[in-house]
Amino acid sequence: MEKAKIILTGDRPTGKLHIGHFVGSLRGRVELQNAADYDKMFVFIADAQALTDNFDNPEKVRQNIIEVALDYLSVGLDPNKVTLFIQSMIPELTELAFYYMNLVTVARLQRNPTVKSEIAMRGFGKDGEEQVFGSGLPVGFFTYPISQAADITAFKATMVPAGEDQKPMIEQTVEIVRKFNSIYGDTLVEPEILLPSNKACCRLPGTDGKAKMSKSLGNCIYLSESAEEMHKKVMGMYTDPLHISINDPGHVEGNTVFTYLDAFCNDGHFASYLPDYANLAELKEHYMRGGLGDVKIKKFLEKVLNEILEPVRTKRKEFEKDIPEVYNILKKGSEVARNAAAKTLDDVRNAMKINYFDDAKLIAEQAERFAK
Ligand code: TRP
Repeated sequence: MEKAKIILTGDRPTGKLHIGHFVGSLRGRVELQNAADYDKMFVFIADAQALTDNFDNPEKVRQNIIEVALDYLSVGLDPNKVTLFIQSMIPELTELAFYYMNLVTVARLQRNPTVKSEIAMRGFGKDGEEQVFGSGLPVGFFTYPISQAADITAFKATMVPAGEDQKPMIEQTVEIVRKFNSIYGDTLVEPEILLPSNKACCRLPGTDGKAKMSKSLGNCIYLSESAEEMHKKVMGMYTDPLHISINDPGHVEGNTVFTYLDAFCNDGHFASYLPDYANLAELKEHYMRGGLGDVKIKKFLEKVLNEILEPVRTKRKEFEKDIPEVYNILKKGSEVARNAAAKTLDDVRNAMKINYFDDAKLIAEQAERFAK
């Protein structure tokens, strides 16, 4: 029998999703959903994982669950096709993680590059390994790759659409699966990562040209943002500091407007909004030659973004009218997900022989032993 094709991915609810998420993951998920080349697809809100480094701010996580759910629904994830759920509503995941903890060494976790850089970034320690892994680091955060392995394996996921930064997590999951299967017998399924195909899409910079969109820098364009707010942000975008007068030759490399155009626009957009150019290559060529102003390229980008985001905004408004129904969608999805995870947990308990009450043979053997 062919192995079932099961797609699973998720996001931490630490903020509203922005257009970087859209090109980097959401757009691809909707395409996967609609291609319908899978047996099951799960998309979940990783609130328990978000709490590993926001344990002191549960209200932030709580508020962002509905934001992320609305973002999912408004970009077109369809709860009739995809199971949408909340991680913490599936207690089976924590039990799986607990058993997996026996299969991972502290040294291996310390080597996980994503965890390493996140620890440094969050300032859990200062410079140097010893301090980084010193007393400031919560065990829950340190072990979140194990919890993530539980998320993935609970659903027997074969494919995990995610960014480059998640590669170490998938690698660690594969190691856990192999170790589990070699000790307890073939039970868990090895996942594979599915990276975004377009390189420009992997990491969209902020509107200020800084490497990352982040709420605190105020350089994000959110999916939930109005056209008016977005207009201001696009007009204020970082371009080329050397392109002072229109006739100066411009640079497209590191020019945020062009990076966004790389990620979002197609030839059809030129035909609709900027017919003097056939495609992005022609526009870039003119900009580099000189004689093309920033306002013109920004206006074009705004039109492209609006074409993509307007249907998302409309859909969001519809779902916002019935918030209880959005929670209901998540609740129903969580029930479906819980059943799937419970089935895997049963397999795991059987494989580990911690299924005492279900094992008639064990009970009979023990009875016989004590009867002697
Ligand atoms: N670590 C992911 C992120 O930060 C979120 C996540 C948690 C996840 N569990 C997962 C992604 C399982 C894919 C599969 O975005």
